[in-house]
Amino acid sequence: MGLTYFKRFRMDYDLTHSVPESAPVPPGYDLVPYSTDLIREHATAKFQSFRCELDANVFPCLGRRDGCLKLMREITSRAGFVPEATWLCRYHDCETGTMQPIGTIQGLQFEGWGAVQNLGIDPAHRSRGLGSVLLCRAARGFREAGLRRMYLEVTTDNTAAIRLYERLGFKCAKVVYKAAEVAGV
Ligand SMILES: CC(C)(COP(=O)(O)OP(=O)(O)OC[C@H]1O[C@@H](n2cnc3c(N)ncnc32)[C@H](O)[C@@H]1OP(=O)(O)O)[C@@H](O)C(=O)NCCC(=O)NCCS
Repeated sequence: MGLTYFKRFRMDYDLTHSVPESAPVPPGYDLVPYSTDLIREHATAKFQSFRCELDANVFPCLGRRDGCLKLMREITSRAGFVPEATWLCRYHDCETGTMQPIGTIQGLQFEGWGAVQNLGIDPAHRSRGLGSVLLCRAARGFREAGLRRMYLEVTTDNTAAIRLYERLGFKCAKVVYKAAEVAGV
């Protein structure tokens, strides 16, 4: 194990006059607002979305099923948790006749800012507009909660996510560094 510093952008969005807009939810998918009985489904979607990604090095809990559940419990029990900005995306699997959790986003608030947490879409369901839809719903949720600006942090190598954030109108505000113990370093 070795200590590594990951370079990350903090990106901001001013919600005063507008919220970002996306295409409608594609057929076969549902967006579900937060409720406590959905914590396990959020954790499943989070694990599926992050387990093979760079951010599982930056935040090792994202690479473990139990770590994702613990993180969901921790986020949703915080004083600054924003349920209105927390959404689950489910896919209607016609073969099994079940609804599968395949995407998640959570919201927290700090000092008047909405803080986007852990936007993730299962790799099998990417590039259909679902990440954008979830982020736009979270933005609307922050507004409903009375917040007028939001931010997120993204690892600078995560170019797909950065493109999405820039397309929706986020602006890079500063560079921050996150230290993490990484195997093999
Ligand atoms: C980042 C992430 C959430 C994006 O999710 P997504 O559902 O693929 O996002 P979208 O579909 O809205 O946008 C992705 C691309 O699909 C394109 N797209 C959207 N709808 C489309 C459609 N109907 N047909 C074809 N392409 C489409 C978008 O234009 C975008 O293209 P680009 O990569 O050239 O910019 C996803 O890649 C992910 O979960 N990554 C791993 C976890 C992670 O790193 N999260 C971010 C932490 S900061």
